[in-house]
Amino acid sequence: MIDTKIIEIDPQNIEEEKLKIAAEVLRAGGTVAFPTETVYGLGANALDALALRKIFEAKGRPADNPLIVHIAHKEDVDRLVREIPKKAKLLMESFWPGPLTMVFKKSGLVPDVITAGLDTVAIRMPSHAIAKNLIEMAGVPVAAPSANLSGRPSPTQAGHVIEDMLGRVDIIISGGGCAVGLESTVLDVTEEVPVILRPGGVTLEALTEVVGEVLSDREIEGDFGAAPKSPGMKYTHYAPRAKVVMVSGDVEEIKHTINELKRENADKGIKVGIMATDETEGSYCDAVVISMGSRKEVNTIAENIFAILRRFDAMGVELILVEGIETKLVGHAVMNRLTKAAGFNVIRARR
Ligand code: TXA
Ligand code: MG
Repeated sequence: MIDTKIIEIDPQNIEEEKLKIAAEVLRAGGTVAFPTETVYGLGANALDALALRKIFEAKGRPADNPLIVHIAHKEDVDRLVREIPKKAKLLMESFWPGPLTMVFKKSGLVPDVITAGLDTVAIRMPSHAIAKNLIEMAGVPVAAPSANLSGRPSPTQAGHVIEDMLGRVDIIISGGGCAVGLESTVLDVTEEVPVILRPGGVTLEALTEVVGEVLSDREIEGDFGAAPKSPGMKYTHYAPRAKVVMVSGDVEEIKHTINELKRENADKGIKVGIMATDETEGSYCDAVVISMGSRKEVNTIAENIFAILRRFDAMGVELILVEGIETKLVGHAVMNRLTKAAGFNVIRARR
């Protein structure tokens, strides 16, 4: 067991001395969990293969799932990749720093542990003040997966990281909530037409506005057969301890179907939780109901979903019934995460 040190830092008013302690640990080959604008990350020096192994060990992460390299300046990408395609340059100008990860052809500097043997490397420049300053101070690129135990919902609050990582990492920086609430978009820019490998904080619509055609893996629309191009997408993900069932379709039919499922299961003595929306939360009784936010504010829903999954676990809920939402804008990423949390257990709502 590692004697984990928790350091509290206010992102609005960063105390350099505290951040320096964490930066030193990164430089020395240790592990540091820190907030980003998407979710908390678990960082280690991206050029130190030994340090990188500690990440896989702390998370219980399969070694064939590659890591994202985080940088503090756009120029830092140069020595990590073989080429920067024109479209990637445009996207860097528009979305960095921010929740966009791009997959490039990797240079010889990038250790194989990061890329899991692939010829490509995923790179992102986060906008969160603590993340940016920490990477800058460490003076090395920082590999960082989400700071959860492999398979669990991603952490969007320091408390979630402490729950999963206490005793497993050197430092946890407690720095408030994550504004986006789900992970970055992973975009493959090695092909002429960029391909979304994981929908996230930067939407398909926003990407298209900058570079024209962008392909999107349509897995949440039902094409589950294709082999995942982003290795991480094939594992169980974002899963709470409770069983999760997603009910999708028309809102009135969703309410009807969830009420039916809730009754059936409650009759069997199963403790049911419902992930509803502001528009529907009043339609359910005799169940633990938590609203994800308004259907009109999908960014709020994105911010809340992982925390709600963890809250249901804390309450001992055994079955979570979650409402589907529209796959427009960041709703695409929300539905991707919820579908995976449900292990693709999706029911079409009916009356
Ligand atoms: O928002 C985020 O991206 C967060 C924060 C901490 O930055 N990080 C994160 O990392 O979500 P992780 O490890 O949980 O997810 C990385 C995803 C995985 O699905 C992985 O398979 C994919 O990126 N990935 C990494 N390198 C890749 C590569 N070279 N080619 C294709 N996919 C890659
Ligand atoms: Mg993750």
